[in-house]
Amino acid sequence: MELFLGALLSACLLSFVSADFQGDALIALKSSLRASADQLKDWNQNLVSPCTWTNVKCDPSNNKYVISVSLSSMNFSGTLSPKIGVLQTLSSLTLKGNGITGEIPKELGNLSSLTSLDLENNHLTGEIPSSLGNLKNLKFLTLSKNNLNGTIPQSISGLPQLISLSLDSNDLSGQVPDLFFNLPTYNFTGNNLNCGVNFPQPCVSNGNDSGSSHKPKVGIIVGIVGGLIILLLFGGLLFFLCKRRRKGNKGEVFEDVAGEVDQRIAFGQLTRFAWRELQLATDSFSESNVLGQGGFGKVYKGVLSDNTKVAVKRLIDFESPGGDAAFQREVEMIGVAVHRNLLRLIGFCTTPTERLLVYPFMPNLSVAYRLRELKPGEPVLDWPKRKTIALGAARGLEYLHEHCNPKIIHRDVKAANVLLDEDFEAVVGDFGLAKLVDVRQTNVTTQVRGTMGHIAPEYLSTGKSSERTDVFGYGIMLLELVTGQRAIDFSRLEDEDVLLLDYVKKLEREKKLYDIVDGNLNKNYNIEEVEVMIQVALLCTQASPEDRPPMSEVVRMLEGEGLAERWEEWQHVEVTRRREYERLQRRFDWGDDTVHNQVAIELSGGR
Ligand SMILES: *[C@@H]1O[C@H](CO)[C@@H](O)[C@H](O)[C@H]1NC(C)=O
Ligand SMILES: *[C@@H]1O[C@H](CO)[C@@H](O)[C@H](O)[C@H]1NC(C)=O
Ligand SMILES: *[C@@H]1O[C@H](CO)[C@@H](O)[C@H](O)[C@H]1NC(C)=O
Ligand SMILES: *[C@@H]1O[C@H](CO)[C@@H](O)[C@H](O)[C@H]1NC(C)=O
Ligand SMILES: *[C@@H]1O[C@H](CO)[C@@H](O)[C@H](O)[C@H]1NC(C)=O
Repeated sequence: MELFLGALLSACLLSFVSADFQGDALIALKSSLRASADQLKDWNQNLVSPCTWTNVKCDPSNNKYVISVSLSSMNFSGTLSPKIGVLQTLSSLTLKGNGITGEIPKELGNLSSLTSLDLENNHLTGEIPSSLGNLKNLKFLTLSKNNLNGTIPQSISGLPQLISLSLDSNDLSGQVPDLFFNLPTYNFTGNNLNCGVNFPQPCVSNGNDSGSSHKPKVGIIVGIVGGLIILLLFGGLLFFLCKRRRKGNKGEVFEDVAGEVDQRIAFGQLTRFAWRELQLATDSFSESNVLGQGGFGKVYKGVLSDNTKVAVKRLIDFESPGGDAAFQREVEMIGVAVHRNLLRLIGFCTTPTERLLVYPFMPNLSVAYRLRELKPGEPVLDWPKRKTIALGAARGLEYLHEHCNPKIIHRDVKAANVLLDEDFEAVVGDFGLAKLVDVRQTNVTTQVRGTMGHIAPEYLSTGKSSERTDVFGYGIMLLELVTGQRAIDFSRLEDEDVLLLDYVKKLEREKKLYDIVDGNLNKNYNIEEVEVMIQVALLCTQASPEDRPPMSEVVRMLEGEGLAERWEEWQHVEVTRRREYERLQRRFDWGDDTVHNQVAIELSGGR
């Protein structure tokens, strides 16, 4: 049996994994066009599918596939990114009236759904790519008022749907192919073109001449035939998808390849696995397949019968009062959180004595592994990757906190729970599990689920967590990324800094930034970027939860916005706090027990 939910619960804002390639392409376009900081501000591929972005429209029937991009008169000066060639569903692309330079990328010929392309009034140079002849649905092609040269590619004359062709005011030369004069509307003036080989033709027609009389009929016929073909294809696709679904598609694991249809149409769809299936996949939960052990149970590596690699989490000490149904509801909630930086739940399994969750296997394991458990010969996590991970993890948490309703609090953010996909993109795992395990069963002191050194003081003292508890954990994770060290490490006892946070704060105060950074990086990093990360980390780990920035702000600060002001404030508060602390310390003269007390205070908080 499978669960279908998505629309029903809609716990999180829709963020389709399949939309990412579209978002990526549009972001590439935005950056190649050199959009200024205040243009297209909401183009952020990590939050939601690009369907909510300004100047972008998606197919209204599914609100998933981009069909129109319209960026007229925005004073861009850059070039056209070839990446937009992946937008297979794009029907209309308008970029007229900008200052776009460079050539028309031949990849535009991949936009097989395009019906209208308007690049009028830019500074485009080079030749018209002959690949535009592949745009079998193209009706309107407008390249007027550019600096295009060379001849008109013959391939364009074969476009079956073309109604209007405007190439006027360029530097085109040579003959205009005869076929073009059958078009209802065309304009070739303002070039060095020779209109008409066999008999002279006007270089312009606005649609009301003889050529237009029969063309529309052809258009209609082609339209009807095309429509039928599309209907048939669509029917076939539906059939295919239904069949897949009935089979139980445990297969789909990683992100879609560009242009491939999302294989799970109902994205909140989870597979219920049989116990036997998972037992086989993990070789009877063999110890040799253990990938790790967290607060909620062991994780095993497994291979399903269709060769999909998975990670199977076997929950321990659960006791759900609502039984199976309650468990399934919680599992569904987790299943709806879909984001490129969150580990996506594939399915689950319940028996009277077992509860298991099935996730995709992450080939590069976890950040903790990459920082501290590398086998000889495995490469060190370089600085650019660490930066990407910091931002990715922040985006994943931002999504859980700010785009899920009810919001999902992770409760155990740390380097070991940030996994890495094949591209070393951060994928936050282990979220939403707290409710799956009945905390009342275990004794009072372990009510707090989390990992020492990562837990925010207020969570330890009151047992109450909020998204700001996660922000704290995230801050410590940043420190792990910079230093490569553990959050608690008794080998730092000599320096009286068992806690990583204290250790970094001290070095930061003494302006010994270089001593903070992971020695494994071999000085291959940018010290300003390190500084940013440390500052963000210290802001996130402030003692009082209200002072910590929300994750959306963390994302912005990592992207370089608004950190300076926050940091100034922090330093001010910190200096005051520190003076007070030193005053108290002098009064009580803790002597040799300092280290001990520091830890003890951290552990017991104000309980
Ligand atoms: C367009 O951009 C240029 C710089 O690329 C700038 O000098 C000019 O003021 C802008 N014009 C408008 C109308 O924004
Ligand atoms: C896109 O176009 C380029 C050049 O025209 C071609 O090499 C490439 O294979 C195309 N990609 C896809 C996904 O169709
Ligand atoms: C077209 O213009 C480019 C420069 O923009 C030049 O390199 C190329 O030789 C020109 N081609 C023709 C056929 O004039
Ligand atoms: C054809 O192009 C020329 C030059 O760009 C323009 O002045 C004229 O208005 C156009 N004619 C039509 C019918 O579009
Ligand atoms: C098209 O119609 C306009 C009036 O709408 C007229 O002025 C023009 O001469 C016509 N062109 C041709 C080629 O018939």
